[in-house]
Amino acid sequence: MSTKKYYITTPIYYVNDKPHIGHAYTTVAADILSRFHQMQGEDVFFLTGTDEHGAKIAEAARLAGKEPQEFCDEIAVEFQKAWGNLNIEYSHFIRTTDQDHEAGVAAFLSQLKEKDFLYEKDYVGLYCIGCEKFLTEKELVDGKCPDHKRVPEKVTEKNWFFKLSRFLPKIEQLIENNALAIAPENAQKEVIGLFRQGLDDFSISRQKVSWGIRVPWDQSQTFYVWVDALLNYWTALKITGKENYWPPDVQLVGKDILKFHAIFWPAMLLAADLPLPKKIFVHGYFTINGQKMSKSLGNVIDPNDLVKKFGVDATRYLLFSQFPFGNDGDISLEKLKAVYNADLANGVGNLVSRILKMTKNGQVPEKDIKGTEESEKPIDRIWSDALEEGKKPYTFPYFVSQLWLGWKKELNDLKLGFALERIVTFASILDKRIEDEKPFKLFKEDSKKAGYIIYDLLESLRHIAWMLMPFMPETADKIFEQLGLDLKKEKAKNFEEAIKWGGLEPGTKIKVGKPLFPRIE
Ligand code: MSP
Repeated sequence: MSTKKYYITTPIYYVNDKPHIGHAYTTVAADILSRFHQMQGEDVFFLTGTDEHGAKIAEAARLAGKEPQEFCDEIAVEFQKAWGNLNIEYSHFIRTTDQDHEAGVAAFLSQLKEKDFLYEKDYVGLYCIGCEKFLTEKELVDGKCPDHKRVPEKVTEKNWFFKLSRFLPKIEQLIENNALAIAPENAQKEVIGLFRQGLDDFSISRQKVSWGIRVPWDQSQTFYVWVDALLNYWTALKITGKENYWPPDVQLVGKDILKFHAIFWPAMLLAADLPLPKKIFVHGYFTINGQKMSKSLGNVIDPNDLVKKFGVDATRYLLFSQFPFGNDGDISLEKLKAVYNADLANGVGNLVSRILKMTKNGQVPEKDIKGTEESEKPIDRIWSDALEEGKKPYTFPYFVSQLWLGWKKELNDLKLGFALERIVTFASILDKRIEDEKPFKLFKEDSKKAGYIIYDLLESLRHIAWMLMPFMPETADKIFEQLGLDLKKEKAKNFEEAIKWGGLEPGTKIKVGKPLFPRIE
């Protein structure tokens, strides 16, 4: 049986500015999913990169007093550094100024031209450099772009157009029957709404923008930056010789760029007879203290600063614990700190040291053989807290196996925040179990039973480490190490085997380490 391939992408980010937490949000999400699929033995290709052409970048370079290429080189490195600091393990980092990308774009579009899907037309439009797109009169507020608060430029030129209209009925149908899944549901509705409003063919070239890929058959033009950018998902596989990962399994995008990904992009692929991505997942936007994040407001959060303050894993955690992935939400440094202390310092971190310190002579105690069965049949160690009225009693290991089912489903549905919440709840249930059953006191009366409870608690930490692994890989390692496990061996386990109850061997020597998440005052 060949390994299942999984291809995941983030948008490629404009290099007019350094990375901010908006970029980090999408990229960390992709890394979490990539690790989740890898854990299950899948062969993952995870792509990210930078979008380096167009008027906006040229303008930013000019303002910085640099040549565009030099400017792009510098910022692209900033992105790579930030992703390194966030422990993001991409398979490839594409830059649209890579020569082989440029050649791939030219070849792709020449093919569309040969197929007669492109035509020339005079065009008059209102162009917003900030958006890198034409706006309609209706979209303006007081004559300005509502997002960039600048008056769009009136552009009159001859452009090459793509016959989008030809592909619209097909795409609409594919989206409606979920062959091209747009998730979550509200995003799908939004796209369907766009079809109802009607869409025009779009121009794929620019006469006045010189910082771009030259149109091979018309040297007076460069390709429109969005066309160039979208094709990165395809050229990256050609460049790396990984065409067999096509099509993407999931493409993560922010809601601002949904239309490009859900309509223009599939249309270009249909025109080239290529299979379409399976899923486009759209996440929301966050505001900072109720305000849009912007340079002029001076409220832009640099992901590197978060890593300095909270550490890598906590930063990864905090980004997804604020509000559901897919929704909009608000964050603030105060809230991040509060959640850090509540969930991590007092929560998981404290729990780990509390449980590790409970072991007598620093060893994992004997386990209750009966308790390792994932059965629903009541045994002497029924876990009463999990009982809900009318439900059959079940054992603690069975309860943990149910947690796993939920965790897997949530990650498969990209409900990252819910999966994290589940882990934190698991931790608080363990805390409660300690309070209720007081194993440290029980030792005197019934040391065997006390040992069984402590075994459950230690083994639960191993499960927590596995659940945290895609989100907080370093923390997972630290927990494994403190449990006295051989890191390499533990991580090499087949996933389904690893998450079975009872993996921690009695007699293993615990290695209490430093607190995982020191409190931040
Ligand atoms: N270059 C285009 C994408 C081309 S993809 C073929 C672009 N780049 S961008 O640098 O502006 O980054 C866009 C992405 O960053 C958004 O889609 C979103 O994923 C993320 N975010 C930017 N600001 C954000 C927030 N305030 N909140 C959450 N995500 C945000 O558009």
